Amino acid sequence: DWTPESFVDTTVAELKEQLGNDKVILGLSGGVDSSVAAVLLHKAIGANLHCIFVDNGLLRKNEFEDVLDSYKHMGLNVKGVNAKDEFYAALEGVKDPEAKRKAIGKVFVDVFEKESKLVDDAKWLGQGTIYPDVIESVSVKGPSATIKSHHNVGGLPDYMKLKVVEPLNTLFKDEVRAVGHTLEIDDAILQRHPFPGPGLGIRILGDVTAEKVRVLQEVDHIFISSLKSSGLYNDVWQAGAMLLPVQSVGVMGDERTYENVVALRAVASLDGMTADWVHLPYEFLAEVSNNIINRVKGVNRVVYDISSKPPATIEWE
Ligand code: XMP
Repeated sequence: DWTPESFVDTTVAELKEQLGNDKVILGLSGGVDSSVAAVLLHKAIGANLHCIFVDNGLLRKNEFEDVLDSYKHMGLNVKGVNAKDEFYAALEGVKDPEAKRKAIGKVFVDVFEKESKLVDDAKWLGQGTIYPDVIESVSVKGPSATIKSHHNVGGLPDYMKLKVVEPLNTLFKDEVRAVGHTLEIDDAILQRHPFPGPGLGIRILGDVTAEKVRVLQEVDHIFISSLKSSGLYNDVWQAGAMLLPVQSVGVMGDERTYENVVALRAVASLDGMTADWVHLPYEFLAEVSNNIINRVKGVNRVVYDISSKPPATIEWE
């Protein structure tokens, strides 16, 4: 019978056998899958696992520092790489959603490749690929492949000649969480909502700047921390905020304002392929909206997205 404990024991033994004294490189994203894969590999080969966690400047507020800290507490051999400026430079003036995904993906590969080369004599690339990812990449004509090019951490050019090791590729998401629980990984990581690889880059509609990222990080932080403090976070499959390329008129005291509009989105879903908007309580939305408008300079209007997928998608880009 499959249990998370037996999976951990068998997999760690197999990884030891397979990897011996070889070095493995793994890109951490802060998400469930790469974190669980890293802890499993670390259990098998210790410091021969070299983790790389890239700050693309498009993460949530404080996320890079917080997640890097928790990885270090787990004993992982992890290098945090601040590459914000490279990502912002590549995104300058780029408005089209797919062009932004491509630009972000390209810089990620460049940064990851450069960092990988600093690890002498690495033989393997570790990845947090799970079973549904395997299926999705086999069905090339799947809707997500054609509608949006989903860039996930770890897609590397072939010429790097690393062999790939994917310890989670037979597991479904709930099994990955159960394994993570057995490995005593923090719930803050295991219960985390999905977050797209291109991050806030595709939640800032139109071109991305460091200042827009700062504004959206503040908005998103108010929304997500309110979901957590109200006990609603785990009822929602994914939530976030979009910075719209729209200004609206408002009043502040006796001054007219002309500032940004943000949209909040929270969805219920099983796998992201279809989704319903969540009927968050009006009182909750009212409080979040007030907090955002009062605290985030540059935002004077908040709207709530009441579209389901299909025909809308979860992200706006
Ligand atoms: P959509 O917007 O297609 O999103 O309904 C479905 C799920 O996929 C995530 N998503 C992405 N994930 N790279 C990713 O790694 C991407 O480019 C990307 N686009 C969307 C989205 O957050 C949702 O969970």
